Amino acid sequence: MKIFLDTADLNEIRKGAALGSVDGITTNPSLIAKQGRDFKEMIMEITTIIDGPISAEVTTLTKEEMLRDGREYAKWQKNIVVKLPTTREGVEACKILSDEGIRINMTLCFSPMQALLVAKAGAWCVSPFVGRLDDISSDGVELVSQIVHIYQNYDYKTQVLAASMRTPLHVLQCALAGAHIATMPFKVFDALYDHPLTDKGLKNFLADWEKAKKDMAKSKGK
Ligand code: E4P
Repeated sequence: MKIFLDTADLNEIRKGAALGSVDGITTNPSLIAKQGRDFKEMIMEITTIIDGPISAEVTTLTKEEMLRDGREYAKWQKNIVVKLPTTREGVEACKILSDEGIRINMTLCFSPMQALLVAKAGAWCVSPFVGRLDDISSDGVELVSQIVHIYQNYDYKTQVLAASMRTPLHVLQCALAGAHIATMPFKVFDALYDHPLTDKGLKNFLADWEKAKKDMAKSKGK
């Protein structure tokens, strides 16, 4: 499963890139707004840090506007993926832009039937929002499983990008469900590295090693 960071924070993106396990980036208008900088400038800077797919989301609602903005973003850099909302107009725009060879990430997907429609429209990936479904007592991971199952049934090439990851457990469950990609905040990504038994085991190994070195030095001195 590929790992994307769901952030527009350049420091987090640099830290993730340095760790070497980050395959791409997703942004959304809320994440970009938090940075208080020009949209294009931010996206371009991200493309210089990460070589993989970088999702840039439109903030327009009509098909014509989405076509205009999507074509524009796709020209900026070859690894930009245009993110469109899963609305009627968004799905229409997805079909047209996908036919033109532009990679589309269909966002705000909350049902398996929406996911079926975006696959038929040729989307490069679909983003089911796991955490936001859990927030309203629905099962977000179950949605990911259902989409994976439907895509396998009909051999759709659209990738399932599990979004709105809130915990490492979400990432595990989505990997088990067969998601192709999971996108997560830096905090969740960073936590994937941790295990208390790794820390405890390492501490013990190093303590044993130090003790053995001292014992060897002592016996040489005799
Ligand atoms: C997906 O691409 C979205 O940016 C994101 O995962 C939304 O997550 P949130 O529910 O934590 O805002």
